Amino acid sequence: MIIKNGNTFHLQGRNISYIFTVSDAGDLLHYHFGGKLGDKDYSASVGNEFRKLICFDGDNALDGIYSETAIREYPEYGHTDLRSPAYTVENKYGNTITRLKYKDFVIKENETASVAGMPSVYKGDKAAQTLEITLFDESIGLEAVLSYTVFDEQDVILRSTRFVNKSDSDMTLESAYSASVDFDKRDLDIVYFPGAWCREREFVRTPIPFGGKVEASNARGGSGHAMNPFIMLCGKDTNEKHGEVYGFSLIYSGNHSSVAECDQYGNIRVRQGINPFGFEYKLASGDVFYTPQSVLAYSSDGFGGLSREMHDIYRENLCLSKWAGKDRPILINNWEGTYFNFNEEKILSMAKKAKEAGVELFVLDDGWFGKRNSNKSSLGDWYVNKDKLPSGIEGLAKKINDEGLSFGLWFEPEMANPDSDLYREHPDWIISVPNLTPALGRNQYMLDLSRDDVCDFIVKSVSDILSCAPIVYVKWDYNRMMADMPCKGYNHRYTLGLYKVLDALIRKFPDVLFEGCAAGGGRFDAGMLAYSPQIWTSDNTDAIARLKIQYSTSICYPLSTISAHVTESPNHMVHRDTPLKTRADVALAGMFGYELDITKMTDDEIGSIKDITEFCKSVRTLVRTGDLYRLQSPYEGNYCSWQIVSKDKSEALVFGCRILNTTNTKESRLTLDGLSPEFEYTDTVTGETYGGDELMNRGIVPDYEEIDFATFVKVLKKQNNASEVNYEVFR
Ligand code: DGJ
Repeated sequence: MIIKNGNTFHLQGRNISYIFTVSDAGDLLHYHFGGKLGDKDYSASVGNEFRKLICFDGDNALDGIYSETAIREYPEYGHTDLRSPAYTVENKYGNTITRLKYKDFVIKENETASVAGMPSVYKGDKAAQTLEITLFDESIGLEAVLSYTVFDEQDVILRSTRFVNKSDSDMTLESAYSASVDFDKRDLDIVYFPGAWCREREFVRTPIPFGGKVEASNARGGSGHAMNPFIMLCGKDTNEKHGEVYGFSLIYSGNHSSVAECDQYGNIRVRQGINPFGFEYKLASGDVFYTPQSVLAYSSDGFGGLSREMHDIYRENLCLSKWAGKDRPILINNWEGTYFNFNEEKILSMAKKAKEAGVELFVLDDGWFGKRNSNKSSLGDWYVNKDKLPSGIEGLAKKINDEGLSFGLWFEPEMANPDSDLYREHPDWIISVPNLTPALGRNQYMLDLSRDDVCDFIVKSVSDILSCAPIVYVKWDYNRMMADMPCKGYNHRYTLGLYKVLDALIRKFPDVLFEGCAAGGGRFDAGMLAYSPQIWTSDNTDAIARLKIQYSTSICYPLSTISAHVTESPNHMVHRDTPLKTRADVALAGMFGYELDITKMTDDEIGSIKDITEFCKSVRTLVRTGDLYRLQSPYEGNYCSWQIVSKDKSEALVFGCRILNTTNTKESRLTLDGLSPEFEYTDTVTGETYGGDELMNRGIVPDYEEIDFATFVKVLKKQNNASEVNYEVFR
């Protein structure tokens, strides 16, 4: 609900309030973001604590409050606020001094805000309203429209900003954050998610130092392995279950920036949006610039509460594909099984075995096109390699269908190898700068997606393949960082081109399930999730490494987006040996698949794979739609556990892992979460029954096998449902 009471704008979600006021001088002053408050005009009580602070004098005082000391909604730099700004614009006089003042507002009933050329959260069947506040700087003719959407039954606020040049002369945006929020409390930590290839999204928590800042930004092209566009701010005592936490997630796949900064009075300013480093946008007279959308969420129930909030909104209101709301096929991907070394016969033999094990989809990975037998050639040549696949993609797909599996295919359409017909024909299509040999990454160049002809080529070449064969799934890969950007702001233009291409393809092929990928999880962001309901999480498929990767990925992103495969042991990345059961139990908490040479497995192993697949099918709706409760963090010790509870609390999947074996120790009890204290639950394997109150207050004692990397998975069903399923087979 959006309430306008006097000079107060109040956005109320299910349990939250987001409040700001308009000062007499026309400044937007932030008042509150957090637990729900009542409906009042709060403008009279704004900023009393700031009045006595020493700052600029004279007419610049906003009714006795100086912008330098106040907590504000969308601050500029350089007039009377010398802190870091939400935006910077160079005007025709060559300076960057602006002063946006409140002009008017509009409330749009039953609407979420959309952002031209970029994905955003949509309304679906939820009740939502959008508030647009227009600010204007009459000295330079700049308009900024701040957009806020609130859902009646969610605890999120969607923010974005639109700039319009209403003057007769050009101006240049040098930075334009999607959202800026000032907190007048100092004791906050920031949690952010840096990483690298094969160790994406580590959970890092650190205080925001007085007078200093913590910057979680990335300028590597895509959203990147090195930093995820999601941060949290939390109280010192906040943990997984308790305490206040604020989330900021950017729906964007390019260079991004999230900064938390503490000023001289202990106010904390958080800004999130496009990374200003290397950014610039020329706004000619009449031009409009849209920032991406930032999703702000709040919970007083710790990181777990915040996750469940983010999961609901991203599962239900972000992805444009019909697959977002459907169970995903259990797949087998040939990458780790064969790498580039396969032919039709090999692929068909893998498909046949996979079918025996109950697998539903075969995904042919890299190496099927051009002359591609290594990563040195053929990206861009999207026609089949007949030496490897004599019946073509069409013939292979049909043969795989005849084996009883559907068929999916890998692409990396944003790239060209120097050794490709595409590059030989269009050397000018790659990203480069004059007089410098373009940098190669994984032996490949990046195509210039800021060009319409390049985007059209990609749409056409992918469409031609998708139209020639029964292809139901596409893995969309992206395997290098962006270098040699030809001008400031290029990365944003590229990102808009990418969204245009993806949008065209998902509309043209609405039944195809797209999976995002970027050398593992190098572009795991909400922007990509709008087009691909699931994303390959990491090239590190080792079950123990995956505990951390999947755990911290799940803080923002729902399990329905996290692709997880069972691969060979020893693992190809970390060379660790783990039991098949461990690999399967970990992968179950994601969109499940296999990625190994199934033809090399013994009959016993195939039998186990069959059981695992059957079990996975029985819990996949629960995993995709349930509420996630993380119970033990792999960042804190020798254990990792989580639990997925159905929305009606009638069933739950509990997973636990003891990483290293111990001796002569007693297992601690593990208390569960999220169940109904009123229900009796039955363990579907042992038949033991427990009250929900008992499970959540007294807990269970996990019965780990006496080995390293031991795991357990338990399904609990509300008693009158328990007889329906027997999972014995999996144990
Ligand atoms: C990187 C991906 O993450 C892998 O899964 C695989 O598809 C390779 N690229 C293929 O080149």
